[in-house]
Amino acid sequence: MAAYVVVAALLGAVTARSAQTGPADPLFGIRIPQGYRDWPLVSVAVLGSPFNDMRAKVGNDIAMRAFRAGTLPYPNGSIVVRLAWKQVASAENNEAFRREGHVLNLSPGAVAKLLSRSFVAGPATNVQIMVKNSKRYASTGGWGFAQFDNGEPVSPTLERTCWPCHAQTKPTDFVFTRYSP
Ligand code: HEC
Repeated sequence: MAAYVVVAALLGAVTARSAQTGPADPLFGIRIPQGYRDWPLVSVAVLGSPFNDMRAKVGNDIAMRAFRAGTLPYPNGSIVVRLAWKQVASAENNEAFRREGHVLNLSPGAVAKLLSRSFVAGPATNVQIMVKNSKRYASTGGWGFAQFDNGEPVSPTLERTCWPCHAQTKPTDFVFTRYSP
């Protein structure tokens, strides 16, 4: 039994360490969570100029349970990651609509209008992360904030802008995104 407990504790330590990769951000000590790219989707958003990007929010198991059930506040250990890509026009997709748009009962003018607002995900821009730890991050609503550009943490100056804006959405525990079923 004792041996089992020791092994379990060791395995737990290894799992906890390997759950994050790369450098930590200087302000909140957050690393990029390993495997986040395969986490379930919470929802998506699109931003206009000057960002012109499209965003996906994903969550770990703890966050997803809370998102789906509408549990507030989010439990400690919740992690939400926001991925983003530049909006780019797809020549291949657009050509398909130009050639076959008539099967959707679209006139050439209507197709042109459709394509003027049609984009796919281009190059990735940056990754933003929120980690819930109500004790460690008590002064920022219980959330730690981090942004990584090409895997490198951004400056503390930029990270200091996160909390004042997220503080506006107190009724949803400082998380803007709602779960899209
Ligand atoms: C000017 C306001 C503003 C600032 C500054 C800001 N955010 Fe956000 N953030 C938003 C809004 C609005 C959303 C929801 C829509 C979206 O994804 O763009 C969001 C979404 C997020 C999400 C997905 C969870 C959620 O709350 O919806 C994360 C994670 C996130 N931001 C992290 C950060 C980090 C890290 C920083 C600082 C580097 C930051 N944000 C700075 C407004 C802001």
